Parts: sequence; structure tokens; C-alpha cells
Amino acid sequence: MIEAPLIDSFGRIHDNLRISVTDRCNIRCFYCMPETDVHFVPRAEILDFEEIERFARIAASLGVTKLRVTGGEPLLRRDLPALIRRLAAIPGIRDLALTTNGVLLPQLAGPLYDAGLRRLNVHIDTLDRERFARITRRDDLPKVLAGLDAAKRLGYAAIKLNAVAVKNLVEPDIVPLARYARENGFEPRYIEFMPLDAQGLWDRRKVLLADDIIETLSREISPLIPVPNRDPRAPATEYQYADGGGRVGFIASVSRPFCLNCNRLRITADGKLRYCLFAIEEDDVKALMRSGAPDGEIATLVRRNVAGKWEGHEINTARFVPPPRPMYQIGG
Ligand code: 5AD
Ligand code: SF4
Repeated sequence: MIEAPLIDSFGRIHDNLRISVTDRCNIRCFYCMPETDVHFVPRAEILDFEEIERFARIAASLGVTKLRVTGGEPLLRRDLPALIRRLAAIPGIRDLALTTNGVLLPQLAGPLYDAGLRRLNVHIDTLDRERFARITRRDDLPKVLAGLDAAKRLGYAAIKLNAVAVKNLVEPDIVPLARYARENGFEPRYIEFMPLDAQGLWDRRKVLLADDIIETLSREISPLIPVPNRDPRAPATEYQYADGGGRVGFIASVSRPFCLNCNRLRITADGKLRYCLFAIEEDDVKALMRSGAPDGEIATLVRRNVAGKWEGHEINTARFVPPPRPMYQIGG
């Protein structure tokens, strides 16, 4: 039974929870992780499956209907299919998706499908092996492509390709990646580079803007037209090719901030609740759970966190302060 929706002081209803299951990763994308000196949370500090499931159930009782499992790299979490099966069975959860870098998909696409997963976002910036290695500091493009192939053959209902749009870097990849996506029935989504890297490399001038990509794809492939009646609360702005060749999404966090429609909450692998990717403060769900708090007390913490949510990040203003943790520790 849902008592009252999770609503913040700006009237935004929260029905979407992103769960990070690990802060570890098997590659090292420069816009997310440093090359060396990566600090992972000790295992004992990571929520176990009981705790994750419990939190997801409490969230569902507060009106959350959509879950996304992220990381770090979630496929590194041992027995992930077992967790997926448990999350998929929670009453009220209508949508379950996973974001992965795809390196372990050749082995895990099947077991995850069997566990009930149907929606995948696979992070891939380029089809060029050398540039892939430069961006991720690992030579794993063949594995990601094999993983995508495996997922496609299994019949996942929706496969999206996440590409981070970094200026003066990925321009040569835009068209080849979009063509590859079109040929395979995948939807590319270009994510504007955000100030979430571990090394403070971000700078507004390094963001390849959605409008520039739209122009390139429209010129080189087929004109892109905004999709009418799309879900106004989805972070991606959806476009479709005029020739009917599929869709392309843009997460234009910098050029078109979508905070006014935000419906998302996040829980980090170490059990901290965040109302925004860029939040400065977090609430300690794990401490509460491990102190024996009943569900109602945790639900109250969630309500309080949402009630105190800010209007939005201020990437475009001088007031902007990057979050104290980089992307891999927060969960995408
Ligand atoms: N800016 C934008 N997107 C990023 N991601 C990781 N780091 C950044 C960043 N600094 C993306 C990756 C991943 C998703 C969860 O977040 O594409 O797939
Ligand atoms: Fe790993 Fe994803 Fe960060 Fe790349 S963006 S280093 S794949 S967690």
C-alpha cells in the first residue's frame, strides 16, 4: 500500500530509484575515474542483497515503480542475477533496467535475462579500438561488442548505448556509433560530459553539446526530429530519424538541464541516499538499517531526503560546486 507519493517542495513526484551495487569498475574511463589511486569502499561497507532488497521494497511502498541498477560496474557484483531476480519480484516495480560497461556481458547477458532483466544501457563511446583504449585505459572493445551481440541475440526488449559527449575527442565516433546502433536496433544516447570526473578535468568548453550532435547526425544520416509526446520526466530528449531508421536520445544536462522534471533518487553502494547526482549532502540509510531501525524509520528518512531536495544543479552558474564524490562512487 502506498500512503502518499514521495513529493518534494517543488512538487516533483519521485518514482525512480537508481541503485548502485558496487563502486568498483574493471575499466577506467577518464571522465569518471582516476587512472591510479582509486579508493574503493571496503566490502563490509557495501550493502548486501538483503539490505538492497529491503531498501527497494521500502522505496516501492513509497511509490517507486522504476529501478535502475548501476555502479561502478554492476556486473562485477558477485551473483548479480540473483539480486536482479529479487528486485524484479518486488510488488509495484514495473520497470527494471541496468547500466553496464558491457565488458562482462558476454558471460552475463544470458543469466541476467533468465533472472528477468529486459532493459540494458551499455556504455560505449567509440567503435575504434585505439580510442576506446585511450578513453577507458583498457583494451576491451571486442568484449563490449561481443556482449552487445549476445544481448541482441537473447532478445532484450530495449538496448541503449550510452556515449559521453566530450569535445575534441569523440567527434569522429558520433556517426559510426549512430550507424552501428541503427543497423542493430540499438538506441544511442549521447550524454553531455558532466563535472563528475575524479580529477577535476571538466570544463564547459570540453562539452560536446547535444545540438552539435543533432546537426551532425541530421546531415550525415537522416534529419532528426523531436519525438512528440515523449515522457516529460525522462532525462533524455528523444529524437527520431526522418527516414524511420530509429531513435536517438540526448542527456543534455549542461545545455538543457532537466532538473525541473527530475523524479530520481539514488542509493550508493555504501548505502547513502542522494536526491541528486550532484548532491552535496547524503543520508545514511546503511547506518540506520544496521542499527536495527524498522522500515517506518527508513521510510521517514527517505521522505525527509526528498522533501529537502534542491531545485537543481547549477552547472551553468558560477555558484556550481562539484559533488564531493566522483561518478563511480555515486552511481550513474
Ligand atoms: N559525464 C557524463 N556522463 C558520465 N558517465 C560517467 N561519467 C560521466 C561524466 N563525467 C556516464 C557513463 C555511464 C553513465 C552511468 O554515466 O556513460 O554509462
Ligand atoms: Fe567504469 Fe562506468 Fe566509470 Fe567507465 S564510466 S570507469 S565504465 S563506472
